[in-house]
Amino acid sequence: MPSPLTKAVIPAAGLGTRFLPATKAMPKEMLPVVDQPAIQYVVAEAVAAGLHDVLMITGRNKSALENHFDKVGELEQVLTAKGDLEKLEKVKYSTDLADLHYVRQGDPKGLGHAVLRAKMHVGHEPFAVLLGDDLIDERDVLLTRMLEVQSERDTSVIALLEVDPAQAHLYGVATVEPTDDDDVVRVTGLVEKPAPGSAPSNLALIGRYVLRPEVFDVLERTEPGKNNEIQLTDALQEMAGRDDLGGVHGVVFRGRRYDTGDKLDYLKTIVKLAADRDDLGPEFRDWLVGYAATLNPHGDDSGAA
Ligand code: UTP
Repeated sequence: MPSPLTKAVIPAAGLGTRFLPATKAMPKEMLPVVDQPAIQYVVAEAVAAGLHDVLMITGRNKSALENHFDKVGELEQVLTAKGDLEKLEKVKYSTDLADLHYVRQGDPKGLGHAVLRAKMHVGHEPFAVLLGDDLIDERDVLLTRMLEVQSERDTSVIALLEVDPAQAHLYGVATVEPTDDDDVVRVTGLVEKPAPGSAPSNLALIGRYVLRPEVFDVLERTEPGKNNEIQLTDALQEMAGRDDLGGVHGVVFRGRRYDTGDKLDYLKTIVKLAADRDDLGPEFRDWLVGYAATLNPHGDDSGAA
């Protein structure tokens, strides 16, 4: 039996250009989703799957990310003195969450390049990659299932989501064959952001991977691809054809996923998660229903409080 995985890598060094100017001085992974930065949900997901050793790949604005997971003695003292234990718990939660490490990417030359920066830290064991702006609802199971498939099949595993074919060109897209497991497919081909109308399927890659360490050797010789970036998808395309490396399998995810790096999805995410919260939900839903009734889908609305 292979030993259980312990390491997660979270790339958070992208420029976040879709979210400018908010991301001019702050990584998009620090944008608040209700009252926690997106990255905190991602670290919590890794830990919940048993991955306590977390390496974050950071970029030019790394300080906000590191500070968020650091101890802030002064804040803790003030809250302790006030006896505000609830807020104190919230402040300490992110500090105690995981065993966090950081490495800088330097120039953001693509997701594959970011993952390659984890080579020294990861060594020769399989590891997970969780994109720092991609959230999986904690009520749905994905990463645990991917870890299971990795260990059972000694393969690399990607997460796949069925998307509207008209949207497929925005993602990496997989060609697959069925396996004897309903939710698992064998990946026979991968293409990063195919031209509109040319996607080989509607199965899109989302931001969770469990990879065999040989991916580092493949990434080292992967040439820049789409957008002149070193694409993880291109390295996985090579791995998919390598039976000696266990190939690539996909877990088809049918749960809730939120892309907080996209403005529209970010707004939807906050509304959905806030509406489901026990503390904010009842009042927020009441207001939301009333507000929605005032809206004209074509934009000619006014007057709602
Ligand atoms: P994206 O392609 O969504 O990030 O990468 P981006 O380039 O920052 O976004 P836009 O298009 O300019 O708005 C997915 C994940 O990979 C990380 C990002 O931080 C994000 O979490 N990433 C991407 C890196 O760490 N390094 C890179 O060179 C590229």
